[in-house]
Amino acid sequence: MRKRLVLFPLPLQGHQTPMLQLANILYSKGFSISIIHTQYNAPNSEINPHFTFHPIPNSLSQCETYSKEDVIRLIIKLNALLVAPFRDLLAGIVSDENAANKEPVACLITDAMWYFTQDVADNLNLPRIVLRTSNAACFYAFFYCPVFKYKGYLSAKGSELEAEVPEFPPLKMKDIPIHGTPDPEQTYELVCAMIEKTKASSGLILNTFQQLELTSLSAIRKAIPPIPIFAIGPFHKQVPASSSSLFAPDQSCISWLNVQAPNSVLYVSFGSIAAIEMKEFTEIALGLANSKQPFLWVVRPGLVRCSDGNDPLPSGFMEMVAERGRVVKWAPQQEVLAHPAVGGFWTHTGWNSTLESICEGVPMLCLPCFGDQMINARYVTDVWKVGFRFEDQLRRDDVEKVIRRLMVDKEGQEMRQKMTSLKEKACLSKEPGGPSYSSLESLVAHISSFSMKGQLLLFLTH
Ligand code: UDX
Repeated sequence: MRKRLVLFPLPLQGHQTPMLQLANILYSKGFSISIIHTQYNAPNSEINPHFTFHPIPNSLSQCETYSKEDVIRLIIKLNALLVAPFRDLLAGIVSDENAANKEPVACLITDAMWYFTQDVADNLNLPRIVLRTSNAACFYAFFYCPVFKYKGYLSAKGSELEAEVPEFPPLKMKDIPIHGTPDPEQTYELVCAMIEKTKASSGLILNTFQQLELTSLSAIRKAIPPIPIFAIGPFHKQVPASSSSLFAPDQSCISWLNVQAPNSVLYVSFGSIAAIEMKEFTEIALGLANSKQPFLWVVRPGLVRCSDGNDPLPSGFMEMVAERGRVVKWAPQQEVLAHPAVGGFWTHTGWNSTLESICEGVPMLCLPCFGDQMINARYVTDVWKVGFRFEDQLRRDDVEKVIRRLMVDKEGQEMRQKMTSLKEKACLSKEPGGPSYSSLESLVAHISSFSMKGQLLLFLTH
């Protein structure tokens, strides 16, 4: 009989997309899939008709959008608010399995940020596996946060922030993902709860691959030895392309890309949450215009703080760049990055964006905003050496120069070559014999062992 898995994504684009990709990967391995979700940012059930969807009654509704300022507050609030309704819903799904011909639930898989679900799963005697949607280096840095706090690194200020973290090269103090968040104490509590409940879980899944992050993966395996760790990425290369986008992508940019020269276009996008000041936005706009390079820029509603729905582009901007520039509200990003015209990606280094860029061999300009983005950017520039980073205040002249370094100069071409080799490794990792392929086989065996243990328990208790 097929076994059922219950998955519970966080209702944010960068978390929901990889969870739904994971659901499709596990479905292809013979599991049935139930998705529990909030009403806020509910996934589109029509895109995955082969899954069963269970909205949590009375969970936050679609009343607000959340940005950097309140995303941590949102996660903490939901972790408290959802305990009882989630428990009742999950208990109903699990008890349903006892009805004739219903598939038994093998385990619960939740986003790492749903720390409250570990106790719920324990009470129902259901194994919980954790999906952490960032990379291995970032998980390890989060694991290290109590040490950072003990050493006083969390209170570093001014020039101290530029110093290297001695225990964690090549991170700088400013890259520690607690810095730069609106309420560092609250972020620290969230990180600790996430790590503690992951340590208490039955396994950790990461959307990364071994050749990219061997050192960080080995470090986590040493740090939390009882938990099996499954690095089975890149997820999006193992499932048919289907949009789990919370916004409608503007497909017209693809026909614009079709008439651009190979590797000539800089794609600019800062993900689904990051917000920047109007002053920074203007420097980006003028730097792009002055660089004279073709660009495709995603200016999402909410990207510019306090723009109150007004068009934030400097007046006359579109006339100035004419056919050389294209601005959209949301792009079909994976398709854009795979397009031969795209030669560079100016990104906030959210992990999905970073991995998507690596998988298409596109070098990056990094403008990390908060959280794991700081670590991802450090790895892009200092470890994998496939991008440049804006370390200081954004100025239009620097923007213009760095765009030309990436898109025109020899340095950029060398990065593109390095990227080609990373792209090949990413591609091979998921093929039979590759490490992500083997790790996925181990994950399937691990999940299957739960249901066997469950059946044994049932047999012994009758
Ligand atoms: C958030 C965090 O910011 C990120 O650091 C963390 O790793 C995951 O959660 P987000 O900021 O949205 O995510 O960035 P990212 O992880 O890059 O995810 C954005 C997703 O939206 C990507 O899959 C990207 O392909 C998609 N996207 C983005 C589009 O499809 N179109 C766009 O125009 C922009």
